[in-house]
Amino acid sequence: MSEDWIAPSILSADFARLGEEVDAVLKAGADLVHFDVMDNHYVPNLTIGPMVCEALRKHGVSAPIDVHLMVTPVDRLAEDFAAAGASYISFHPEASRHPDRTLQLIRDAGCRSGLVFNPATPLSWLDHLMDKVDMILLMSVNPGFGGQGFIETTLKKLATARSLIEESGCSIRLEVDGGVKVDNIGRIAQAGADTFVAGSAIFGAGDYTQTISQMRSEIAGVR
Ligand code: DX5
Ligand code: ZN
Repeated sequence: MSEDWIAPSILSADFARLGEEVDAVLKAGADLVHFDVMDNHYVPNLTIGPMVCEALRKHGVSAPIDVHLMVTPVDRLAEDFAAAGASYISFHPEASRHPDRTLQLIRDAGCRSGLVFNPATPLSWLDHLMDKVDMILLMSVNPGFGGQGFIETTLKKLATARSLIEESGCSIRLEVDGGVKVDNIGRIAQAGADTFVAGSAIFGAGDYTQTISQMRSEIAGVR
């Protein structure tokens, strides 16, 4: 298993102080910055685009930026995020007309590529794409909003995805997104995840350092 990473979702940050918020979670021990992009079309909400990613880089953020695209079409925005300094770019395969091409385009732009699976999206999308993904992201809520409850059936899906990764022999991260909290992160880690997105659980807490270190010790408890 690879190293465990905590990825605070800035969806729950104070947008009026975004640079400071990102600095604060990184100082508190976060490994990467989860950046949720919503277009009011693929999902019923609207957030931030490549200009904000670029602004974080200009602000001095050097940690990896993990862009989660909840948009359709995908390709143009994927290229724009690569130019804006994204590190990982993940998208929902059914939102792209040609997922193989989109994955290749992300890698060609110098970023790591990811596929995102909604609770009802089957992992069979991976059948012919495993060699082109650097990250598999399983949604444990339906995409669009922070603060929703963790869907328990994701645990079984995580275990299946973990087996697929092991069988492939490829180096692929397994990320989980939605409803991740201190009190369930241990079970989620045990099911096979190695990258943990948490929005409301981190930004909604008074002390980011304390929350992130509690998450790490819960994970350590099952390793
Ligand atoms: C939901 C987003 C998530 C969201 C998670 O569509 O992709 O990243 O911010 O928020 P919490 O951790 O509050 O469920
Ligand atoms: Zn997300």
